[in-house]
Amino acid sequence: MGINSISYCKMDIKEYINKKQFVIDNYLKNYFSSPIKPGILYESMTYSLFAGGKRIRPILALSAYEVCGGNPEHILPQASAIELIHTYSLIHDDLPAMDNDDLRRGKPTNHKIFGEAVAILAGDALLTEAFKMMTECEIKKIKKSSLLKVIKELSSASGAHGMVGGQAQDIISEKSEPDKNTLEFIHTHKTAALIRASVRTGAILAGSKKSILNALTKYGECIGLAFQIIDDILNIEGSIEELGKSAGTDIEKGKMTYPALYGNEKAKQKSEELVSSGISALKIFSSEADPLREIALYLLKRRA
Ligand code: IPE
Ligand code: IPE
Ligand code: MG
Ligand code: MG
Repeated sequence: MGINSISYCKMDIKEYINKKQFVIDNYLKNYFSSPIKPGILYESMTYSLFAGGKRIRPILALSAYEVCGGNPEHILPQASAIELIHTYSLIHDDLPAMDNDDLRRGKPTNHKIFGEAVAILAGDALLTEAFKMMTECEIKKIKKSSLLKVIKELSSASGAHGMVGGQAQDIISEKSEPDKNTLEFIHTHKTAALIRASVRTGAILAGSKKSILNALTKYGECIGLAFQIIDDILNIEGSIEELGKSAGTDIEKGKMTYPALYGNEKAKQKSEELVSSGISALKIFSSEADPLREIALYLLKRRA
């Protein structure tokens, strides 16, 4: 049986995801309900934050926490903060000096509306605010030591040792001959690092034991790399309407991608194998991990 026909439960994963998106959006709307000065900075930050992202990283944090027996409501600040880091990365990724994209989440990119200077500052502000948001919690529900570990985890995954390192390698590798090691470095750093850290955030905040943390880490790593390979494939096969961002741009820019090195079919196969390995890493859990299994399959089938 092909991986695309597997199903783990009767659960409607789309409904599960919608419910989690709603809770995260509510938390974020509430957090940003008082305007920030100057108004243009506030407009620019909230423009991208509420433009309609999938919220997959915070959802993974909440789901991992739930698998470990926690009540996801307790970690909304930490989970939602990951979306601020992610949104900052998209605003900067789209800048003319980076990928120079005009469309994101179905809307003109941040710099197209607010100009480059404000877009850069909105990104800076979202990144910094994320770490403030993480600390806005009832410390009774979360151990201080776990919160410290999560701050280290997320700063490391998003900075030079993670996403920023991957973004730098992605930019300097444009138009060069793809090679396996550089490509793997780019994808594991620019995208998989934050996805892995999102899953680990849930597990760390739940105070999970080593075997559980290791299993969830493996799951996060596998689906994180698969996520970027699927993004590469969608850049070739998807339409602007489906994606809410421009298609065909990786080839135009000579980006180092899985399809560029291996071809579309092999890249698809690789993403399926990674999703399979991610699901296998969850074998120590029973049905409580079905949402994570279903999310992995959903990411494989996504068209946006
Ligand atoms: C896009 O991420 C950038 C990548 C790391 C591939 P998402 O596909 O999660 O984008 P949104 O948040 O739903 O817009
Ligand atoms: C996005 O990579 C990675 C980060 C923003 C960290 P891409 O540049 O490939 O993603 P899209 O296609 O613009 O969303
Ligand atoms: Mg990029
Ligand atoms: Mg880009």
